[in-house]
Amino acid sequence: MSKRIVLVTGAARGLGAVVARRFHEAGYKVALADIAVEAAQAAARDLSSDGSSAFALKLDVTSKADFESARDTVLERWGAIDVLVNNAGASKVIPVMEITAEQFDQVIDVNLRSVLFGCQVFGQHFAARGVGRIVNIASLAGQNGGSATGAHYAAAKGGAITLTKVFARDLAAQGVTVNAISPGPLDLPIVHESVPADKLEKVIAGIPVGRLGSAAYIADVAIMLAAPDAYFANGACWDINGGLFMR
Ligand SMILES: NC(=O)c1ccc[n+]([C@@H]2O[C@H](COP(=O)([O-])OP(=O)(O)OC[C@H]3O[C@@H](n4cnc5c(N)ncnc54)[C@H](O)[C@@H]3O)[C@@H](O)[C@H]2O)c1
Repeated sequence: MSKRIVLVTGAARGLGAVVARRFHEAGYKVALADIAVEAAQAAARDLSSDGSSAFALKLDVTSKADFESARDTVLERWGAIDVLVNNAGASKVIPVMEITAEQFDQVIDVNLRSVLFGCQVFGQHFAARGVGRIVNIASLAGQNGGSATGAHYAAAKGGAITLTKVFARDLAAQGVTVNAISPGPLDLPIVHESVPADKLEKVIAGIPVGRLGSAAYIADVAIMLAAPDAYFANGACWDINGGLFMR
Protein backbone atom coordinates (compact mmCIF):
# COMPACT_ATOMS: atom_id res chain seq x y z
CA MET A 1 0.00 0.00 0.00
CA SER A 2 1.38 3.45 -0.84
CA LYS A 3 2.19 5.78 2.04
CA ARG A 4 -0.36 8.35 3.14
CA ILE A 5 0.59 12.01 2.69
CA VAL A 6 0.10 14.97 5.04
CA LEU A 7 0.80 18.68 4.78
CA VAL A 8 1.44 20.43 8.11
CA THR A 9 1.48 24.25 8.31
CA GLY A 10 3.77 26.01 10.76
CA ALA A 11 5.96 22.90 10.78
CA ALA A 12 9.33 24.62 11.21
CA ARG A 13 9.21 24.53 15.01
CA GLY A 14 7.01 24.01 18.05
CA LEU A 15 3.90 21.90 17.80
CA GLY A 16 3.99 21.79 13.99
CA ALA A 17 7.47 20.23 14.00
CA VAL A 18 6.31 17.62 16.52
CA VAL A 19 3.18 16.89 14.46
CA ALA A 20 5.33 16.48 11.34
CA ARG A 21 7.71 14.11 13.15
CA ARG A 22 4.94 11.94 14.63
CA PHE A 23 3.12 11.62 11.28
CA HIS A 24 6.46 10.66 9.72
CA GLU A 25 7.06 8.06 12.43
CA ALA A 26 3.54 6.76 11.77
CA GLY A 27 4.55 6.05 8.15
CA TYR A 28 3.31 9.19 6.41
CA LYS A 29 5.13 11.24 3.80
CA VAL A 30 5.20 14.77 5.20
CA ALA A 31 5.25 18.21 3.57
CA LEU A 32 6.47 20.74 6.14
CA ALA A 33 5.05 24.15 5.26
CA ASP A 34 6.11 27.37 6.96
CA ILE A 35 6.81 31.01 6.36
CA ALA A 36 10.22 30.29 7.95
CA VAL A 37 11.30 28.08 5.08
CA GLU A 38 14.93 27.56 6.11
CA ALA A 39 13.96 26.24 9.53
CA ALA A 40 11.33 24.06 7.86
CA GLN A 41 14.01 22.70 5.50
CA ALA A 42 16.22 21.80 8.46
CA ALA A 43 13.30 20.03 10.16
CA ALA A 44 12.50 18.18 6.92
CA ARG A 45 16.12 17.08 6.46
CA ASP A 46 16.09 15.68 10.00
CA LEU A 47 13.19 13.45 8.99
CA SER A 48 14.37 12.50 5.50
CA SER A 49 17.89 13.46 4.41
CA ASP A 50 17.18 12.66 0.72
CA GLY A 51 13.74 14.31 0.68
CA SER A 52 11.99 11.10 -0.32
CA SER A 53 9.57 11.08 2.60
CA ALA A 54 9.70 14.68 3.89
CA PHE A 55 10.36 18.05 2.30
CA ALA A 56 9.78 21.70 3.14
CA LEU A 57 7.90 24.36 1.25
CA LYS A 58 7.28 28.05 1.79
CA LEU A 59 3.69 28.81 2.71
CA ASP A 60 2.30 31.98 4.25
CA VAL A 61 -1.02 30.82 5.68
CA THR A 62 -2.58 34.25 5.22
CA SER A 63 -2.41 33.76 1.43
CA LYS A 64 -4.91 31.58 -0.46
CA ALA A 65 -2.56 31.53 -3.46
CA ASP A 66 0.17 30.04 -1.24
CA PHE A 67 -2.17 27.22 -0.17
CA GLU A 68 -2.97 26.55 -3.84
CA SER A 69 0.66 26.41 -4.86
CA ALA A 70 1.52 24.22 -1.83
CA ARG A 71 -1.23 21.78 -2.88
CA ASP A 72 0.09 21.74 -6.46
CA THR A 73 3.70 21.26 -5.32
CA VAL A 74 2.79 18.22 -3.19
CA LEU A 75 0.66 16.76 -5.99
CA GLU A 76 3.49 17.20 -8.52
CA ARG A 77 6.00 15.61 -6.17
CA TRP A 78 4.02 12.76 -4.66
CA GLY A 79 0.85 12.54 -6.79
CA ALA A 80 -1.62 12.69 -3.89
CA ILE A 81 -2.45 14.29 -0.58
CA ASP A 82 -4.61 12.80 2.15
CA VAL A 83 -4.43 15.09 5.18
CA LEU A 84 -4.06 18.79 6.01
CA VAL A 85 -3.08 19.91 9.51
CA ASN A 86 -3.78 23.66 9.88
CA ASN A 87 -1.33 24.29 12.71
CA ALA A 88 0.38 27.65 12.04
CA GLY A 89 -0.62 30.33 14.51
CA ALA A 90 0.80 33.30 16.38
CA SER A 91 -0.08 35.91 18.95
CA LYS A 92 1.29 38.85 20.86
CA VAL A 93 -0.09 39.52 24.32
CA ILE A 94 -1.64 42.98 24.33
CA PRO A 95 -4.25 44.27 26.81
CA VAL A 96 -7.67 44.10 25.16
CA MET A 97 -8.32 47.85 25.41
CA GLU A 98 -5.08 48.60 23.58
CA ILE A 99 -5.34 46.31 20.54
CA THR A 100 -5.12 48.36 17.34
CA ALA A 101 -6.87 47.60 14.05
CA GLU A 102 -3.57 46.47 12.51
CA GLN A 103 -2.71 44.17 15.42
CA PHE A 104 -6.22 42.71 15.41
CA ASP A 105 -6.18 42.06 11.66
CA GLN A 106 -2.72 40.51 11.75
CA VAL A 107 -3.60 38.01 14.49
CA ILE A 108 -6.96 37.21 12.89
CA ASP A 109 -5.21 36.63 9.55
CA VAL A 110 -2.61 34.18 10.86
CA ASN A 111 -4.98 32.23 13.11
CA LEU A 112 -8.33 32.38 11.31
CA ARG A 113 -7.95 33.43 7.67
CA SER A 114 -5.44 30.56 7.56
CA VAL A 115 -8.15 28.07 8.55
CA LEU A 116 -10.60 29.52 6.01
CA PHE A 117 -8.13 29.28 3.12
CA GLY A 118 -6.67 25.92 4.15
CA CYS A 119 -10.13 24.37 4.39
CA GLN A 120 -11.27 25.99 1.13
CA VAL A 121 -8.28 24.89 -0.95
CA PHE A 122 -7.71 21.43 0.52
CA GLY A 123 -11.40 20.81 1.28
CA GLN A 124 -12.25 21.35 -2.37
CA HIS A 125 -9.44 19.05 -3.50
CA PHE A 126 -10.39 16.32 -1.02
CA ALA A 127 -14.09 16.62 -1.94
CA ALA A 128 -13.24 16.13 -5.62
CA ARG A 129 -11.33 12.93 -4.69
CA GLY A 130 -14.15 11.78 -2.40
CA VAL A 131 -11.91 11.41 0.66
CA GLY A 132 -9.72 13.54 2.93
CA ARG A 133 -9.03 14.66 6.46
CA ILE A 134 -8.49 18.15 7.89
CA VAL A 135 -7.34 18.84 11.45
CA ASN A 136 -7.38 22.46 12.66
CA ILE A 137 -5.26 23.33 15.69
CA ALA A 138 -7.43 25.71 17.71
CA SER A 139 -6.86 26.50 21.41
CA LEU A 140 -8.40 26.44 24.84
CA ALA A 141 -8.31 30.26 24.50
CA GLY A 142 -10.95 29.96 21.78
CA GLN A 143 -13.26 28.21 24.23
CA ASN A 144 -12.74 30.13 27.49
CA GLY A 145 -11.57 33.54 26.22
CA GLY A 146 -7.94 32.84 27.12
CA SER A 147 -5.83 34.33 29.85
CA ALA A 148 -2.27 34.98 28.74
CA THR A 149 -2.69 34.96 24.96
CA GLY A 150 -4.55 38.08 23.82
CA ALA A 151 -8.18 38.80 22.99
CA HIS A 152 -7.59 38.84 19.23
CA TYR A 153 -5.97 35.39 19.45
CA ALA A 154 -8.81 33.99 21.58
CA ALA A 155 -11.39 35.43 19.18
CA ALA A 156 -9.56 33.96 16.17
CA LYS A 157 -9.34 30.52 17.80
CA GLY A 158 -13.05 30.64 18.66
CA GLY A 159 -13.61 31.41 14.98
CA ALA A 160 -11.41 28.47 13.99
CA ILE A 161 -13.63 26.14 16.03
CA THR A 162 -16.72 27.58 14.31
CA LEU A 163 -15.19 27.29 10.83
CA THR A 164 -14.35 23.67 11.66
CA LYS A 165 -18.07 22.98 12.11
CA VAL A 166 -19.05 24.87 8.96
CA PHE A 167 -16.56 22.99 6.75
CA ALA A 168 -17.32 19.68 8.49
CA ARG A 169 -20.99 20.02 7.58
CA ASP A 170 -20.26 21.24 4.08
CA LEU A 171 -17.78 18.48 3.16
CA ALA A 172 -19.13 15.47 5.07
CA ALA A 173 -21.16 13.97 2.21
CA GLN A 174 -18.04 13.99 0.01
CA GLY A 175 -15.99 11.83 2.37
CA VAL A 176 -14.08 14.68 4.00
CA THR A 177 -13.92 15.17 7.77
CA VAL A 178 -12.86 18.35 9.55
CA ASN A 179 -12.04 18.44 13.26
CA ALA A 180 -10.40 20.88 15.66
CA ILE A 181 -8.06 20.16 18.56
CA SER A 182 -8.02 22.73 21.38
CA PRO A 183 -4.90 22.31 23.51
CA GLY A 184 -4.30 24.01 26.83
CA PRO A 185 -0.75 25.24 27.59
CA LEU A 186 1.82 22.82 26.17
CA ASP A 187 5.40 22.08 27.12
CA LEU A 188 6.77 23.88 24.07
CA PRO A 189 9.41 26.59 23.44
CA ILE A 190 6.88 29.40 22.87
CA VAL A 191 5.36 28.87 26.32
CA HIS A 192 8.76 29.04 28.04
CA GLU A 193 9.82 32.03 25.86
CA SER A 194 6.69 34.11 26.37
CA VAL A 195 5.75 33.38 29.99
CA PRO A 196 8.22 34.43 32.74
CA ALA A 197 9.34 31.48 34.90
CA ASP A 198 7.58 32.64 38.09
CA LYS A 199 4.33 33.20 36.19
CA LEU A 200 4.65 29.84 34.46
CA GLU A 201 4.89 28.14 37.84
CA LYS A 202 1.55 29.68 38.77
CA VAL A 203 0.04 28.66 35.44
CA ILE A 204 1.13 25.06 36.02
CA ALA A 205 -0.17 25.11 39.59
CA GLY A 206 -3.57 26.13 38.18
CA ILE A 207 -3.78 23.18 35.80
CA PRO A 208 -5.76 20.37 37.46
CA VAL A 209 -3.32 17.67 36.33
CA GLY A 210 -0.41 19.84 37.54
CA ARG A 211 1.66 19.65 34.33
CA LEU A 212 1.96 21.31 30.93
CA GLY A 213 0.57 19.31 28.02
CA SER A 214 2.55 17.02 25.73
CA ALA A 215 2.90 18.18 22.12
CA ALA A 216 3.51 14.58 21.04
CA TYR A 217 0.14 13.57 22.43
CA ILE A 218 -1.60 16.40 20.50
CA ALA A 219 0.16 15.06 17.40
CA ASP A 220 -1.04 11.53 18.11
CA VAL A 221 -4.64 12.72 18.39
CA ALA A 222 -4.23 14.47 15.02
CA ILE A 223 -2.95 11.17 13.56
CA MET A 224 -5.96 9.36 15.00
CA LEU A 225 -8.34 11.92 13.44
CA ALA A 226 -6.51 11.61 10.11
CA ALA A 227 -6.94 7.84 9.88
CA PRO A 228 -9.00 6.39 7.01
CA ASP A 229 -11.39 4.77 9.51
CA ALA A 230 -11.96 8.07 11.42
CA TYR A 231 -14.96 8.93 9.22
CA PHE A 232 -17.40 9.22 12.16
CA ALA A 233 -15.34 11.84 14.02
CA ASN A 234 -16.45 15.05 12.33
CA GLY A 235 -16.99 18.70 13.25
CA ALA A 236 -15.76 18.14 16.80
CA CYS A 237 -13.51 20.18 19.03
CA TRP A 238 -11.19 17.80 20.90
CA ASP A 239 -10.36 19.33 24.28
CA ILE A 240 -6.88 18.45 25.59
CA ASN A 241 -6.25 20.85 28.44
CA GLY A 242 -5.39 18.94 31.64
CA GLY A 243 -8.83 19.65 33.05
CA LEU A 244 -8.60 23.46 32.77
CA PHE A 245 -11.91 23.62 30.93
CA MET A 246 -14.62 21.01 31.22
CA ARG A 247 -17.97 21.04 29.45
N1 LIG B 1 2.06 26.25 22.57
C1 LIG B 1 0.89 26.08 23.18
O1 LIG B 1 0.82 25.91 24.40
C2 LIG B 1 -0.38 26.08 22.37
C3 LIG B 1 -1.59 25.92 23.04
C4 LIG B 1 -2.77 25.94 22.31
C5 LIG B 1 -2.71 26.08 20.94
N2 LIG B 1 -1.52 26.24 20.31
C6 LIG B 1 -1.53 26.39 18.86
O2 LIG B 1 -0.63 25.46 18.28
C7 LIG B 1 -0.12 25.99 17.06
C8 LIG B 1 1.39 25.95 17.08
O3 LIG B 1 1.86 26.73 18.17
P1 LIG B 1 3.37 26.69 18.68
O4 LIG B 1 3.32 26.72 20.14
O5 LIG B 1 4.10 25.59 17.99
O6 LIG B 1 3.89 28.13 18.12
P2 LIG B 1 5.31 28.57 17.57
O7 LIG B 1 5.27 30.07 17.53
O8 LIG B 1 6.41 27.92 18.31
O9 LIG B 1 5.33 28.01 16.08
C9 LIG B 1 4.48 28.52 15.10
C10 LIG B 1 5.01 28.20 13.72
O10 LIG B 1 4.11 28.81 12.77
C11 LIG B 1 4.87 29.52 11.82
N3 LIG B 1 4.11 30.64 11.27
C12 LIG B 1 3.81 31.82 11.87
N4 LIG B 1 3.14 32.62 11.02
C13 LIG B 1 3.01 31.93 9.86
C14 LIG B 1 2.43 32.21 8.59
N5 LIG B 1 1.84 33.39 8.34
N6 LIG B 1 2.47 31.25 7.63
C15 LIG B 1 3.07 30.07 7.86
N7 LIG B 1 3.65 29.74 9.03
C16 LIG B 1 3.63 30.66 10.01
C17 LIG B 1 6.12 29.99 12.55
O11 LIG B 1 7.17 30.30 11.64
C18 LIG B 1 6.41 28.79 13.45
O12 LIG B 1 7.21 27.84 12.80
C19 LIG B 1 -0.70 27.41 16.95
O13 LIG B 1 -1.87 27.39 16.15
C20 LIG B 1 -1.05 27.75 18.38
O14 LIG B 1 -2.04 28.74 18.45
C21 LIG B 1 -0.35 26.24 21.00
